[in-house]
Amino acid sequence: MNWELRLQLAAHPLAYPLVRGLGRIAPVVRVPRVGVLVSDAGIAKRVLNDPAHFTKTGPGSPADLWTPVVGPTVLLNMEGSAHAELRRKLSGLFTPRSVADLCARVTDEPVKRLRDDLAAGPVDLVPVVRRLVGAVICELVGLAPGEAVAAHAAGTAITSMIRLGRPSLTPAQVRHGRQALGTLTRPAARAYAEGDPATVPGRMRELGLTEEEALGAVAAFVLTGTETLVSYLPRLIALLHDTGWLNRVARDRVRTDDVIAEALRVTVPSPVMLRSVAADTEVGGVRVRAGDRVVIATVSAARALGDFDPDRPHPPDVRQLWFGAGPHFCLGMPLAHAEIRAVLTAVLDATPLSVVDRKAARKVLLPCYERLVVRRG
Ligand code: HEM
Repeated sequence: MNWELRLQLAAHPLAYPLVRGLGRIAPVVRVPRVGVLVSDAGIAKRVLNDPAHFTKTGPGSPADLWTPVVGPTVLLNMEGSAHAELRRKLSGLFTPRSVADLCARVTDEPVKRLRDDLAAGPVDLVPVVRRLVGAVICELVGLAPGEAVAAHAAGTAITSMIRLGRPSLTPAQVRHGRQALGTLTRPAARAYAEGDPATVPGRMRELGLTEEEALGAVAAFVLTGTETLVSYLPRLIALLHDTGWLNRVARDRVRTDDVIAEALRVTVPSPVMLRSVAADTEVGGVRVRAGDRVVIATVSAARALGDFDPDRPHPPDVRQLWFGAGPHFCLGMPLAHAEIRAVLTAVLDATPLSVVDRKAARKVLLPCYERLVVRRG
């Protein structure tokens, strides 16, 4: 069994085979207690680009899950003009210049340490990536980089409560989630109040965000920007290693973007997107009513193209689907790419390199390695 399948089964032993199996039977199918399952890339993009009929704020939507924990203004639980306005204000944080500055401040040091460690002996890439993405989140919320592991743990504490068959959180989970998030939003609130533009919350104030919007953005970054990369980056390295592409792309660096995109298609770090039907309509020929839950199985839609092959181009329907589509398209994509490139470049520079030990993480929301140890040679 290949390692990608092992990771999926370790995370979701029942749901993964069920979702993939249903996707092979029909592009759209109604599943009791889960919702209307969409497994086709073209239909998925049409749903994501039709916010008049499919929203993130109705019953069974992400808002049902997140709003009690993170409050009402977190982008991923907003729609319409308020959502567009908040995105516009935040876009200044993700310009190529802002992302390059942020990475220079935050990722240079952990990447240098990774290079030194790779030169010295075996390295488990999972804690390396956790520290790096945790450090980025620390910078975004105004925490010291030394708090990176705690920041990452707070994000995991929240995402680990989510399950596909559970449309909302219990009161105890909401309390637990708020407590975890507080460790990140408290320093952000302080940084916002001080208004120092060297900190991200201070910059948000400069960009015209209210305190509520700034803290909501911080929560959105924690929820979307940590686990996805902890899932993806070790899987990218493992896939390249297992398919013989690691040494090949190390010699031929112009293929770097191709292997990053193809590994995103195969791993789909954010495997499912949820929407609520706002007005009666149809999805791929299946009638849906207001209040129905639509579950977009991005993992099925993207994986249908086949196994890892960076030489095969992505058709337009599939292109970038792992970052979403339409008004909620991933705001952090430029930052995600910068973090991915920083780690991948250090690993490529250390080739030839072998995976010497690995273990799949069990019962996690996003499939990932618990351990991926690589060594030069
Ligand atoms: C490989 C890494 C990542 C993947 C695969 C990913 C994927 C996604 C997807 C699929 C969505 C849309 C969800 C939907 O429409 O339901 C999304 C939204 C979002 N992502 Fe990412 N993401 C990644 C990294 C990041 C990073 C590093 C950040 C920033 C720190 C970030 C910030 C956001 C935000 C703020 C949204 C919400 C946008 C909105 O609702 O308007 N993401 N991401």
